[in-house]
Amino acid sequence: MKIVGISGSPRKAGNTEFLLNEALAVAAEYGFQTERLLCSELNFDFCSDCGDCSKGKPCPNKDDMHKVLRAMQEAEGIIVASPVYFGNVTAQLKAIFDRTIPLRRQGFRLRNKIGCAIAVGGSRNGGQEKTLESIHAWMHIQGMIVVGDDAHFGGIAVRPAAEDRIGRKTVVASANKLCDLLLLKKEYDGTIKGD
Ligand SMILES: Cc1cc2nc3c(=O)[nH]c(=O)nc-3n(C[C@H](O)[C@H](O)[C@H](O)COP(=O)(O)O)c2cc1C
Repeated sequence: MKIVGISGSPRKAGNTEFLLNEALAVAAEYGFQTERLLCSELNFDFCSDCGDCSKGKPCPNKDDMHKVLRAMQEAEGIIVASPVYFGNVTAQLKAIFDRTIPLRRQGFRLRNKIGCAIAVGGSRNGGQEKTLESIHAWMHIQGMIVVGDDAHFGGIAVRPAAEDRIGRKTVVASANKLCDLLLLKKEYDGTIKGD
């Protein structure tokens, strides 16, 4: 079983990546395979609403989104992390969200995958919860199952993330929650199939 982590930061090795690494380390400890997708390394365009995916055709944009769509479909769990930009996700992450519309239009291919979110800002109350809400909205609209950190809404941290002990705890707790639910789901699926 695979868990994919997406960082919406345009900066390499920044706070978002640091926290995403911590979340994926939890997933690896559980024995899940992990994959990272970083906006700082990917080249992709905006969705132009050409309508091809509504007609069952593949997206005509030949950029790195094919990697993202493949990884999301292969994964059972998806962790999305973003810096707070003006109280919301980065434009880069929103562009990725929009480009996942073929997965929804062509059979809700992310349905019942489990997701959690992480947000990091420069201010302590800089819009992290609103940023999580935006990520959660994408997950809900894709038919995913959304988890928080077992107390509140997910991973919430302030820069410098490495020094935010409490924030890092919410990140680890969110990853734990996601992994626990994946294991429960696996057990349930096994029971239903009778094995
Ligand atoms: C364009 C822009 C807008 C930002 N807006 C906010 C904001 O609304 N609230 C906040 O707390 N931090 C804001 N920040 C600070 C970033 O969220 C913060 O530096 C974050 O740690 C960056 O993550 P990174 O190191 O992974 O790139 C903003 C930064 C930029 C560049």
